[in-house]
Order: sequence, then C-alpha cells, then structure tokens
Amino acid sequence: PTILVLNGPNLNLLGSREPEIYGSDTLADIDARLAAKCREAGVRFDSFQSNAEHALIERIHAAGTEGVDFIIINPAAFTHTSIALRDALLGVRIPFIEVHLSNTHAREEFRQRSYLSDVAVGVISGLGPQSYELALQAALRRLTAT
Ligand code: DQA
Repeated sequence: PTILVLNGPNLNLLGSREPEIYGSDTLADIDARLAAKCREAGVRFDSFQSNAEHALIERIHAAGTEGVDFIIINPAAFTHTSIALRDALLGVRIPFIEVHLSNTHAREEFRQRSYLSDVAVGVISGLGPQSYELALQAALRRLTAT
C-alpha cells in the first residue's frame, strides 16, 4: 500500500513561520518521522508540498492513477477557500484525513470553515506535528486491517 502526504501553501516555511502557532519543526522533520513509521509498517510513503493550488490538484489526479491508497492532507489556507481541492479529492475517490497543526477552531472566524472536512474520513487539528502522526496511525490501521 501507499500513503501520500500533501501539504499546501506556506508549509514549506515551517520551522521559521510563526513558530508560536506552528512550532519549530520543519516539514522535513515531520516527513522524516512519517517516512520512518511507514517503513516500519511496510507501507510506501510519498510526500508533496506546493504553494500552488493547481500543483496540488495535479498531484491528487496523479495519485488516482498511481494507485495511492490513502492521503493525509494539510491544505493550509486552501482549507478555507478551495472547492477545487475538494472536487479533486472526491474525483479520485481516495480516502483522506485532514490535518492542521494549529487548532483552527480556536482562531479567526475565517478559519472556521473547511471545504474538506465533511468529505474527510476524519479531521485532526491543534496537536502540532502530532496531528500528522495520529493521522498516519489511523491511516496505517485502516490499510493494514484485514
Ligand atoms: C493550518 C491552518 C490554516 O488556517 C492556515 O492557513 C495554515 C496552516 C494549520 O496547519 O494549522 O496555513 O492548516
């Protein structure tokens, strides 16, 4: 099986971007831990970050033809704006978990709406890098369950 981790705009700045909100780990740190856990579980790991909506959409389309089994996505600001990302995920029918480092529910009003949450398997928000690790744990359990 294969798990794809997608990260949206500005997450390439993790580590230096508003560390009081997003923490001090870089995206490479987070990916390295996820990759190690996948290796242990015998699951293929792939990861992609882009600041461009179209690049994320095309990566999702490619995932559909590559046979990716599960997606973990932090759509970042596109969470709150992108019907196109929602449609791409629905279009390829790959189950996904939406993750956020910060607790978006405790933040500005404009972060309260997600265009993805109601079609996600689940949503994990507010636990920092652990949000990704918990999502991975759930994804691995689904993929390796008989
Ligand atoms: C985020 C929350 C979003 O509201 C924000 O635009 C981000 C990061 C998070 O991981 O907490 O860029 O998705």
